[in-house]
Amino acid sequence: MQGRVRSLLWADGKLKLIDQTKLPITFEVVECTTYQEVGDAIRSMKVRGAPAIGATAAFGVALGALEHRNDHPADFVAAMDAICGELAATRPTAVNLFWALERMRKVVESRKGERVASIVAALVAEAEAIAAEDVETCQRIGAAGAALIPDGAGVLTICNAGALATVDYGTALGVVRAACEAGRDFHVYAAETRPFLQGARLTAWELVEENIPATLITDNMAGWVMQQGRIQVVIVGADRIARNGDTANKIGTYTFAVLAHHHQIPFYVAAPLSTVDLALPSGEQIPIEERPAEEVTHVFGQQVAPKGIHAYNPAFDVTPAQLISGIITEVGVIRPPFTINLGKAFESA
Ligand code: MRU
Repeated sequence: MQGRVRSLLWADGKLKLIDQTKLPITFEVVECTTYQEVGDAIRSMKVRGAPAIGATAAFGVALGALEHRNDHPADFVAAMDAICGELAATRPTAVNLFWALERMRKVVESRKGERVASIVAALVAEAEAIAAEDVETCQRIGAAGAALIPDGAGVLTICNAGALATVDYGTALGVVRAACEAGRDFHVYAAETRPFLQGARLTAWELVEENIPATLITDNMAGWVMQQGRIQVVIVGADRIARNGDTANKIGTYTFAVLAHHHQIPFYVAAPLSTVDLALPSGEQIPIEERPAEEVTHVFGQQVAPKGIHAYNPAFDVTPAQLISGIITEVGVIRPPFTINLGKAFESA
């Protein structure tokens, strides 16, 4: 079973995206017909979540290729290079963006010398393949992780790692969906995820849409709900996983991992292998996006802090590998030591 929503849809040479800045108050679909519109949608977080950003950027390259389909071959290759560069500059932390752009670049590289029309067709096909593979990958992640949610469990998650953050089905919420489909009886605790409220707006929306029992909490309630015995497992998504298992995810994830460790609650990261950046030995090298101070001082345009206060707004944090019980991927649950076992997972994939 797929999720009830697809975050993006490619039809008739256009990319349709659910505008995630509007949910849950209104359900609006935006149409992108140029790669610049795709870049804007990623930057403004109309589309967000690591795998969704990757697939969206791939369609951005496809749109750019269609715009340049009448170029001379050398001009076309130069244009594709520039477009990939522009799309890569939209958001820095989620490695899936760079992974997807690299796949698109390789299509151009491997077809140099062919007619531009056939390279354009291959780029569109590659973007479609990235999107289709993402859905299948998420379903495999769900199947691999479902058994980690015991009957009667409370499951804590942060941000939105659901259908909206992928092409469909989700990673952390993919595990939740799969456990639900398996008939398991459990309860999700969704942390609201200040300042952008992906938990309150998007995860809560997905859970309500699918009738999955869930309760919304503010981020600073996590320690107390664990102390009360309400949480038996924490499952989060990831934006970039270093070779040693250190994991960048939404700000607040690290706090939950420390709390889970203190309360001896298993802490899992659910992510596709495309989120693993083997080039980085540890989390120290992961670039952390800083977003505008207004996201902290204002709530939906309404000022909540005094003018003149400084505000710090890192969008992600890094959870050290020692705090992670396992990484749920499309090839199974990877356990520590991650440097060795992630390497093995890539060999098997
Ligand atoms: O800033 P966002 O909303 O793009 O951050 C998203 C997250 O941190 C998700 O947990 C992560 O990308 C995994 S999505 C399957």
